[in-house]
Amino acid sequence: MDFQLPYCFFFLLLLLLPFSSNGQAHSNISLGSSLTAANNNLSWTSPSGEFAFGFQQVGDAGYLLAIWFKKIPERTIVWSANRNDLVLGGSTVQLTEDGELVLNDQSGSQIWIRPQSGGSGAAYAAMLDTGNFVVASQAGANLWQSFDDPTDTLLPTQNLNSGAQLIAPYLEKNYSDGRFKFILQADGNLILYTTHYPLNTSNFAYWSTQSSIGSGYQVIFNQSGHMYLVATNGTVLNPVFSDSVSMQDLYLRATLDYDGVLRQYVYPKTASSSRSRAMAWTTLSNSIPSNICLRIGGQVGSGACGFNSYCRLGDDQRPSCKCPPGYTFFDPNDERKGCKKDFISQDCDHPSQEIDSFEIEEMPNTNWPFNDYEMFASEGEDWCRQACLSDCYCDVAIYNTAGQCWMKRVPLSNGVIGPSVAGKALIKVRKGNSTAGSSAKKCDRSNLITTGSVLLGSSIFLIVLSLLGIYVFFSRWNRRQQKMIPQQRLMPDMNMQNFTYSELERATGGFKEELGRGAFGTVYKGVLANEDKPLIAVKKLDKMAGEGDKEFNTEVKVIGRTNHKNLVQLVGFCNEGQHRLLVYEYMSNGSLANFLFGDSRPNWYRRMQIAFDIARGLLYLHEECSSQIIHCDIKPQNILLDKSFSARISDFGLAKLLKTDQTKTTTAIRGTKGYVALEWFKNLPVTTKVDTYSFGILLLELVCCRKNFEINALQEHQVVLADWACDCLKEGKLGLLVEEDEEATEDMKTVERFVMVAIWCIQEDPSLRPGMKKVVQMLEGAVQVSIPPDLSSFISTI
Ligand SMILES: *[C@@H]1O[C@H](CO)[C@@H](O)[C@H](O)[C@H]1NC(C)=O
Ligand SMILES: *[C@@H]1O[C@H](CO)[C@@H](O)[C@H](O)[C@H]1NC(C)=O
Ligand SMILES: *[C@@H]1O[C@H](CO)[C@@H](O)[C@H](O)[C@H]1NC(C)=O
Ligand SMILES: *[C@@H]1O[C@H](CO)[C@@H](O)[C@H](O)[C@H]1NC(C)=O
Ligand SMILES: *[C@@H]1O[C@H](CO)[C@@H](O)[C@H](O)[C@H]1NC(C)=O
Ligand SMILES: *[C@@H]1O[C@H](CO)[C@@H](O)[C@H](O)[C@H]1NC(C)=O
Ligand SMILES: *[C@@H]1O[C@H](CO)[C@@H](O)[C@H](O)[C@H]1NC(C)=O
Repeated sequence: MDFQLPYCFFFLLLLLLPFSSNGQAHSNISLGSSLTAANNNLSWTSPSGEFAFGFQQVGDAGYLLAIWFKKIPERTIVWSANRNDLVLGGSTVQLTEDGELVLNDQSGSQIWIRPQSGGSGAAYAAMLDTGNFVVASQAGANLWQSFDDPTDTLLPTQNLNSGAQLIAPYLEKNYSDGRFKFILQADGNLILYTTHYPLNTSNFAYWSTQSSIGSGYQVIFNQSGHMYLVATNGTVLNPVFSDSVSMQDLYLRATLDYDGVLRQYVYPKTASSSRSRAMAWTTLSNSIPSNICLRIGGQVGSGACGFNSYCRLGDDQRPSCKCPPGYTFFDPNDERKGCKKDFISQDCDHPSQEIDSFEIEEMPNTNWPFNDYEMFASEGEDWCRQACLSDCYCDVAIYNTAGQCWMKRVPLSNGVIGPSVAGKALIKVRKGNSTAGSSAKKCDRSNLITTGSVLLGSSIFLIVLSLLGIYVFFSRWNRRQQKMIPQQRLMPDMNMQNFTYSELERATGGFKEELGRGAFGTVYKGVLANEDKPLIAVKKLDKMAGEGDKEFNTEVKVIGRTNHKNLVQLVGFCNEGQHRLLVYEYMSNGSLANFLFGDSRPNWYRRMQIAFDIARGLLYLHEECSSQIIHCDIKPQNILLDKSFSARISDFGLAKLLKTDQTKTTTAIRGTKGYVALEWFKNLPVTTKVDTYSFGILLLELVCCRKNFEINALQEHQVVLADWACDCLKEGKLGLLVEEDEEATEDMKTVERFVMVAIWCIQEDPSLRPGMKKVVQMLEGAVQVSIPPDLSSFISTI
């Protein structure tokens, strides 16, 4: 009978678990119960524990009364009561004795109440396992349910009734009403609209079922994930989503996202593999509409993006908003607010004086379809450019293949870029980014001439004024001197500062917060006062014995002259006595190594983007900057991610900067094992192709989301990724490389292309490796990728 004891404990545990993990029992919520908004995570949960009802804190802004997926670590809110009216801590939600669900703020004022018709007859409330929160009568009839009051999400078994709507959130992490809605109109038509933000009234319909045949319709979202419009008699009229989803294995939701796209998302209920990788919401294949950038074209309103911006559908099938050259975001944290001119407009009083101050920036395959005030036909492109330059109203001209020249002025709306957009945008910008400074100078000069000629008439006045002038000049001298210092220290030709050691010591709080440590030295986080971008990363170089100041400065200048969105920008340096430091902009999302080999697998599209980013950065270093830079140490630790998770190459130029006291062999050791091409070890000349090699290895790591060398690999032939990938390609079993990665598995064409490019890059013979330009073209699919030579003898069919 001994064996029964552990069993008893086991059952006891099972009984106790649900109660101990959250203070509330999974039963009916009785009249009089309440929850208080506080950081205690108390909630009313469904019997399975999958859904919870309660308060969610939204930053410092307050609390949202919401329903969310309780078992998913990433906060996923499916319903909320007060998205436009967050409440403070201490607010309560109560199921009153009268059967009403009431949200009161901390002072006791009523914010929200359901059922609106009163709660008479209500006996209890319950959070159900479907994600529906109900207020029910003794007989079990629902007096109110959250399913009838949707926010931006539908769950399986939740139907959308005539007149009901979803309103997109404002931003991904801002749950307020946004700019798009999905509505089943009383006429039976199911429509996606832009709204007249900040109002929620309908503006432009960018998708619809066009089944306006009468009333009595309903959108059904059934257990297997199908969404369709039905007539009252049950006839299916229009399918909306028709992917079948196994509800046993997956959580499912359909959400109108802040970008105006209706998407279905799934999330695995249990981790599928032995390797513990964090899971994420993944979109199912078709989103609605498939390309929102092209679908929106309202006469009023800004379109899919804000005014003066344009919309691009990314490789991840998500729209993003960008500013044209010469324009910047009003609010970098809210790209949909649109863009503003970053320069002073043409002076319409003296247009001819200003023609030379402006130039045209070209954007192929771009259009802002409205806002024209003039159209010229059958003139050439050059004529079109000149016409816009010399017309002070013109901000952008669109020159199309039909030879038409459309003149447009701001605010530009419905901007879109994409391969299917014919014509090119000619954007008028002020030359050299000259802004307030240059026009102020001009202003000063003309003022001087006028004042001067008046004053000439009165010499006494002139003398008095000169004396006054001299006095003012000298009294300001000192103050001016101080202000000038930082200006003078800016190196000519670039925005790079020469710091003193003590400045950097102060900025880093005495080199306190270490960000990383590499072969060249240690990197610290720092903060600069009075700067637009105050956060910096300061690299303290250690092995710098006996190098000339001049050489260091020359090399730093070479690095400082580079400027590309996929490079970490050098903003300054310090070369003082023994101290050599480099100051870079701070990259908030850390290194690719942490991102790629960390706990959660980054999604496939993001990894693809990162591969493009690195390839483009290398192409720039090799071919596009004023003096060629070979990196020599490309590896995930040297790729950093900025706040939008774009990849940026760091530490470029250091190979050369530090070469003087290092022979080739020691340099070879510097490169990290696995990423280093063989010619390092042989006595061959080092060319840009060493970077191509390292990139090849990195590309394989990006595709497979694992390190090139993994001693704990499941099988011996998988230890070195490069070898295993070659084998898989030879044997036509590329699927093995991305076995647990659903997104990549669904995109095997790209996986195959990337692997082939990678294998080209890691050819032993440097001359067989492609240059980065070719690599970029192959990755983008612009040129065909042939079968890599090592393999061609083995492969008959791919
Ligand atoms: C909730 O209350 C209703 C009506 O009293 C009852 O039928 C149901 O079984 C209760 N559910 C639970 C889980 O206690
Ligand atoms: C509430 O949950 C959050 C996130 O799961 C956690 O960080 C926090 O410590 C919890 N607070 C309390 C009081 O349990
Ligand atoms: C969300 O965005 C709206 C509109 O810009 C703003 O008024 C509101 O304060 C934002 N909410 C939060 C929590 O940041
Ligand atoms: C639309 O806006 C009005 C006024 O701002 C508001 O009363 C109403 O609740 C909103 N409708 C929805 C569905 O959010
Ligand atoms: C959901 O709807 C689809 C399409 O009408 C149908 O094939 C499927 O059987 C339905 N699933 C359930 C669980 O009703
Ligand atoms: C159901 O209703 C639709 C539209 O109202 C109609 O076209 C169809 O014939 C009806 N089907 C049946 C079986 O009544
Ligand atoms: C103006 O400067 C910004 C940032 O400094 C840059 O992104 C933009 O391309 C520049 N515009 C022109 C026309 O040079």
